[in-house]
Amino acid sequence: MKKITFLGIETSCDETAAAVIQSLNGKPKILSNVVLSQIKQHARYGGVVPELAARTHIENIDKIISKALQKSKLDLKDIDGVAATTGPGLVVCLNVGSSIGKSLAGFLKKPFIAVNHLEGHALSPALIHQKISYPYLLLLISGGHSQFLMVKSFDQYVQLGTTIDDAVGEAFDKTAKLLDLGYPGGAKLEKFAVGGDEEAFILPFPLFRKAGSNLSFAGLKTAVMRIAENLKLKKHKKDLAASFQKIVEKILEEKTKVAMEQFRAEMGFNENFPFIIAGGVAANKKIRARLKQLAEGKKFTPIFPPLELCGDNAAMIAWVGIQKFKRKKFDSLNTKIRSRWALDASAPFLKGPGLKL
Ligand code: KG4
Ligand code: ZN
Repeated sequence: MKKITFLGIETSCDETAAAVIQSLNGKPKILSNVVLSQIKQHARYGGVVPELAARTHIENIDKIISKALQKSKLDLKDIDGVAATTGPGLVVCLNVGSSIGKSLAGFLKKPFIAVNHLEGHALSPALIHQKISYPYLLLLISGGHSQFLMVKSFDQYVQLGTTIDDAVGEAFDKTAKLLDLGYPGGAKLEKFAVGGDEEAFILPFPLFRKAGSNLSFAGLKTAVMRIAENLKLKKHKKDLAASFQKIVEKILEEKTKVAMEQFRAEMGFNENFPFIIAGGVAANKKIRARLKQLAEGKKFTPIFPPLELCGDNAAMIAWVGIQKFKRKKFDSLNTKIRSRWALDASAPFLKGPGLKL
């Protein structure tokens, strides 16, 4: 039996995480998956404070790694390699996990693997589902990213569309802040919106029927801000939360249709392809239901990571590590961290002034 065991480390933003994952003849086994969220530390600032996040990672990372090892019932000597997130993310935070990962790999004389956080999300459903066949369509929706990618094979990503301003999770967080729901807002807004009138407010659909599968959420945020300023009653806030969530569902549904057409134009019209939806926002039940229904109608098989693997975690990082280890894609201990790191290196950067779509 071919067995590969990896330690994964994730500190790109505000979660300090470590996991031990095994691949047994290619099948994943999660031996431990420990995540320490820093929500409490950042809540009173209404967003992640990078220096505070880095300090909290430094204070906890050794304990989290020890806990992951302890839970896995394995010892450091049983590890075949160490994978750590080296981008994209907050530089001061990435430094913590990547430094300790390199030190451990160097000390153990085992390979170090530098992992792209987005690739972690992209491959995360494979930790639970059986083999996912290539090519597949990927929708990555998190606090920092919103993009459609055509995944042709391992490590071969073609970006079909991306956000030109805010990420969808960011839009959820900002709207939740306007409604005084606290931070991080996505899950809180989803809960608060239950029972609200989805049709109470008419909100804009930026880039409707233009710019392919590219997305935009900044105009939506401004519209919500204008309305929120004049709302006094909790009932109306609930209605606004529900209306916001509904328009996001609609935007994602419409843009996914476009991305599916783009995907089929290259990959073929008759086959049934997987459609993977990953990242923190993929935890949203209404968005899940809407995209699942759409996918099934368009002959795509919808695959979501389970809820506990939607948010940031190190299991997904270790799993990418194992995939790269199998292909002997090792990294040097001098590997630099990257605050920006697109999965499709050739994709145009679509943010900032002068953008033409
Ligand atoms: O993937 P993730 O944990 O971290 C990043 O890599 O960004 O995603 C976090 C984002 C946050 O913006 C959070 O508000 C959002 O995912 N989120 C949700 C839900 N749960 C988390 N957004 C909408 N509905 C949810 N249930
Ligand atoms: Zn993430």
